[in-house]
Order: sequence, then structure tokens, then C-alpha cells
Amino acid sequence: MNFKTEKRQQIKQSMQQCRASTLALFEGIDYDTFCHQAHPDFSPIGWHLGHIAFTESLWLLERCAGMPSVFSQEYCRLYAADGLPKTERVKLPTLEQTCDYLDKVRTQVFEYLEIAPLTEQERLWRFILQHESQHCETIILLLKLQYTDAKYRKTKKEANYQLPITNYPMVEIPAGEFEMGNDSIDALDNERPRHRVYLDTYYIDRYPVTCKQYREFMEAGGYQNSKWWSDKGWKWLQENRVTKPLYWVDNSDWENHPVCGVSWYEAEAYANFVGKRLPTEAEWEKAASWNPETGECSTYPWGETIPDFQLCNNNHQIWQTTPVNAYPAAKSAGGCYDMLGNVWEWTASWFDGYEGFVSYPYSGYSQSYFDRQHRVLKGGSWATRPWAMRCSFRNWYYPGVREILAGFRCVSY
Ligand code: AVJ
Ligand code: FE
Repeated sequence: MNFKTEKRQQIKQSMQQCRASTLALFEGIDYDTFCHQAHPDFSPIGWHLGHIAFTESLWLLERCAGMPSVFSQEYCRLYAADGLPKTERVKLPTLEQTCDYLDKVRTQVFEYLEIAPLTEQERLWRFILQHESQHCETIILLLKLQYTDAKYRKTKKEANYQLPITNYPMVEIPAGEFEMGNDSIDALDNERPRHRVYLDTYYIDRYPVTCKQYREFMEAGGYQNSKWWSDKGWKWLQENRVTKPLYWVDNSDWENHPVCGVSWYEAEAYANFVGKRLPTEAEWEKAASWNPETGECSTYPWGETIPDFQLCNNNHQIWQTTPVNAYPAAKSAGGCYDMLGNVWEWTASWFDGYEGFVSYPYSGYSQSYFDRQHRVLKGGSWATRPWAMRCSFRNWYYPGVREILAGFRCVSY
């Protein structure tokens, strides 16, 4: 097989794998659930599914192959990212009809893949794969919000065996430069260009903050004491009146699981409580990717192999968090555990473009969010697909969002 054929095969296989997981999420879903807006900040799951088909059609069939749209004008408006307000995305084609669209687009896309000029287009094909991956994570959040776990439990596998945790050491990351960002063919626009960053010595938690640790904050009255909260954080708390993480499990079996379902403000308050702070994005990424012995950076904390179920908790196989020490083989060269998978980790950094940033494939993908209103999250969660997971990958949300599968770890000088 020549190089080009192999590349086409590889792309096709990933797209098929990704799609099989996507469709599995919709097994047994009724029409009400499909169209239900579970949260005012998010569209219904059925919209996300249609939008996946629409986006693939728009970029690969219309823009690349020059074909007419598979969708009517009305549906183009329905499924476009900037088409209708979220509240008007609740009257949708059925699951069956949506699957017909997915199939129709996919058949044509794979026909086109045979002849597509990949030298020019490979980045776009990989973008489409990551686009579907990311929407599926949102679909999972929405399923979690709509269903109790008892009613909807997907392939839940037992968590890996793990040892008890007796202490919570911090790892020293020595001063020096590292390569931040990513120029590879998979990289999204916001990861580019790769650039050198110097950081002084700092210390970072070996594990994400666990429920056991966070419980101390809760029991010490952390949610009642403004002392630990920034002004904005306290204001947020007064408006939201929460007393525990959204996905809190009140069970001692859970003590080594990472905290999950906190806003950025809660993470900030906890860090203040323990006399630490949230890492900047650069601090997080250096701890994940940089090998202090060689001075080199790797794509994943463990090296260059794409995430699988042995390496970290990803791709919604387990459908919940796992203990933070469950994947020792995946630790970074510096010694941090659980950098990828399990929970996203809030960082102190605003989402912004690196110097020399160029939008791709459209400015609404990243650039519209360079507004000093969104904080960067790193690492990926138990629901993140392997294609959207690497040390340089950047996610972003408003600091008050709690529905995403986010926890955090802390740093200090
Ligand atoms: C990066 C997860 C915040 O879902 O809003 C999907 C990804 N962008 N389609 C989102 C995205 C366009 C984005 N996040
Ligand atoms: Fe999208």
C-alpha cells in the first residue's frame, strides 16, 4: 500500500470508529429526550447529532468537493453553529431521519475520500473527526443531566484496581524552556504555532484534587466563608448558592476519585484554602509533556501512542471517573498522574491565541472566544474521545460553568 492509500485508510477507520461510538450513545433514546433542552446553555442532543452531519457535509462535501448541500435551506439554518438561538433548536427531525442524514453524508464523504487531495486537506479531515468527538462529549453531559444513572447506564466497566493513597505529594518541575502548543497535522488552530516558553521552578500536584481532599474544604465551611473566594467568585456563589460539586458522590468509595463538576471559581477557592493556586496553562502543559531528563516534549504524557483504555480513562468506556492513581503507566516523565482523561482540569489562563495565531477553518471556531471571558481547561475527561486528547489540546468555558466534567489540580512556587 502506498503512503497516500494508507493515510486514507487511517482517516476512514478513525471516522468509522468515532461514528460507531456516536451512534451507540443514541440507542434507546426516545424523541422527547432527543429534542429536550436539558440546560439553557446547551442545545438538545438531537441537535448535536444533526450538527455533526451538517458540519461534515458543509466542509467536506460543499467546500472541498464542490457538491450541493445534502440539507435543505431550512435545515442548514437549523444546524449551522450560528443559525438559530438554542431555544429554537427543539423541533428536530427524528433520530431515524437524522441517522439518514448522517449516512447520506458519510457515503458521499467516503466516496470523495478516495480521490480527495489530502496533501491540502488532511488538516480539515482531522478537524472533522475532532469536531464530532467534541460534540459527543457535550451529548454525554446532556444525557447525564437528563437521566439519573440508574435509568441510563452505558457500558460501565469496573475501574482499574488501585492502591490506597496515603499522601498527596507535589512534583517539582525544574526551571527551563519547553515547547508549548503543537504544529502537527492534528493540531487545531488554537494550538498553533508551537513556541518556546520559559518557566521558573514550580511544584504541581501529582494528582488532580480528590474528593477526600475537597471534602475537607466543604467540611471546614469552605462554601460559607468568603475568605477563600475572589470577589467575582463570591459574587458567583451568591448567585448560584451551591454547596458541593455538581457531580459529587457522597460515598467513601469515592474518596480517591477526582472532584468533578466544579466551576472555575470553586477550584480557585479550594486552591486558596490550601494555600496554593491554579496552574497557568503553560505550567500544566509543561508538567504533562516535558521530560526533564531529555528536555524534549511528548504529545502525550507517556509518549507518542494514542490514548487507549489501558492508558487512561477516556472515550466513555467506564462512564464515570476512576481513582486518580488508577493509571500509573500513563504518568508524565516528571511524575504527574492522570494528566489526560478522567476529568478536565481548570487552569488560571484566559483562552487566547498564541502569537502568530491564524484562524482555521473559521474564526468562529476559536477566535470568537478570545474575549477574556473564557478559561482554558486541559487534559480531557472520561468522556473525551482519543482524537481530542493530547497535552497541547485546549478546551475553554466560562468560569461559572459546572456541567462539564471538570476538576483541577494546584501548583505552588
Ligand atoms: C471547545 C468544546 C468549547 O463545543 O462549544 C464544537 C467545540 N466548536 N463545534 C464547543 C466546538 C464548534 C467547543 N468547545
Ligand atoms: Fe460544532
